[in-house]
Amino acid sequence: MGWRGSSRPGKEPVMPVPDHLISFQDWTRAEIDTLLDLAIRLKAGRRRGLPHPLLEGKTLAMIFSKSSTRTRVSFEVGMSQLGGRALFLSSQDIQLGRGETVADTARVLSRYVDGIMIRTYRHADVLDLARYGSVPVINGLTDLLHPCQALADLLTALESHGRLQGLRLAYLGDGNNMAHSLLELCPKMGLSIAVATPSAYACDPAFVEVARRDAESTGASVLVTEDPDLAVAGADIVYTDTWVSMGQEAEKEARIAAFSPFRVDAARMARAAEGAIFLHCLPAYRGFEVTEDVLEGPASRVFDQAENRLHAQKAVLATLMGSPRSGGVLV
Ligand code: CP
Ligand code: NVA
Repeated sequence: MGWRGSSRPGKEPVMPVPDHLISFQDWTRAEIDTLLDLAIRLKAGRRRGLPHPLLEGKTLAMIFSKSSTRTRVSFEVGMSQLGGRALFLSSQDIQLGRGETVADTARVLSRYVDGIMIRTYRHADVLDLARYGSVPVINGLTDLLHPCQALADLLTALESHGRLQGLRLAYLGDGNNMAHSLLELCPKMGLSIAVATPSAYACDPAFVEVARRDAESTGASVLVTEDPDLAVAGADIVYTDTWVSMGQEAEKEARIAAFSPFRVDAARMARAAEGAIFLHCLPAYRGFEVTEDVLEGPASRVFDQAENRLHAQKAVLATLMGSPRSGGVLV
């Protein structure tokens, strides 16, 4: 088990937490609440200029097999603000790209670093990193899931609405990694979720099942539909993502044709609840999944959302890589 940082080393009971952040199915509602609470305190502390070197002397390896702006920069800056350092490792430049196995890479890196973040295609590779390595593993996006983004999204919703319980999130577009992570996180944290996709691009039913099970215990609801207007009706948060995820470039034309009815435009936003916000994990493609006026409009929180990657991930890093002796949370 990993350990949460404690503000009084050796004095407070040390609470076990999951070893990795690969999927939020491995985390309880209380553990995620604690992450969000820490993220809020770290954000406030940063604003006040308070140092918080919770990971002094620690190193995070960051393996990227796909492009990134937000994930790469927010993890690197986050480690630096926590007093540690991050190593950017393009899979093209390390031996992984020439056929060294994930299992061997995991065991070697574990001898040098205190945590590994990976962005890659195959979700199984992240599971193998955790299985063969001996340090915490953080999923920085796979074809299946994008948990760090979903955590930052809920932090953004919490800031805009002051609560999570009872909020309604509508996700429109591709039943992709982002949709899966929102299905994993929203109902567990008390948010209802409505996902509208074309039938050919629906979410993996396993994630819908998990969402329905979680919803039963938090009083949330789960709606899966092909009707984007139904999904967005009365929503507090309207969310979309690119129609062409990394690795799907060859399908671009077919995808644009299939997803065009799911675009978030002003008329669609008008069907949402009063005070509804628009979220997008970014990068955004204006005129495709969202119109320019919505993306740049008053309901859009996309840049707060991008900033919150930093704060949410610092909470994850400090929780997974910190130790009872690390000095705990100063803010
Ligand atoms: N939202 C997100 O993960 O962005 P990047 O692809 O730029 O990391
Ligand atoms: N669904 C997108 C998210 C990018 C952050 C992708 O996988 O490319």
